[in-house]
Amino acid sequence: MKMALAVVLILICIGTSWVSAQMSRGNPKSGQAVYEQQCLRCHGSQLDGKGPDSEDLIVRPANLQSRITRSKTDWELLVAISNGVLFSPMHSFRGKLTDEQILDVLSYVRTMSPPDIIS
Ligand code: HEC
Repeated sequence: MKMALAVVLILICIGTSWVSAQMSRGNPKSGQAVYEQQCLRCHGSQLDGKGPDSEDLIVRPANLQSRITRSKTDWELLVAISNGVLFSPMHSFRGKLTDEQILDVLSYVRTMSPPDIIS
């Protein structure tokens, strides 16, 4: 009986540390610096897709504040950032940024434009 309680407690501890690790991955402050250097020219300072270079692009940068983007999962956005979006000027950042920088910039985007999963 005591054994079962111990197992449950251990599972709860592992579970909560896993959840908090999920929540705290990526540093939005370092992500902001990455964003300003790599993303702002297209996605804009307000993340609305109206950066200085956006006018020249045939496929306009995504409005990261839109409900469409906000309703996507972290994973979907991560794939877009690391692999790029096919047939669009959004190229892959894998190799250009470290994995850590990609997580940082994702957490910056999520901070500025929180997920909207109730749609
Ligand atoms: C050369 C311009 C350009 C740059 C630089 C750029 N993007 Fe994009 N981004 C785009 C375009 C264009 C799309 C695709 C729009 C579409 O599919 O209609 C896109 C799509 C995305 C998406 C997917 C949005 C969605 O709803 O699926 C994310 C997330 C994103 N960009 C983040 C970033 C981040 C973070 C950076 C910097 C590391 C960045 N982009 C740099 C042009 C750019």
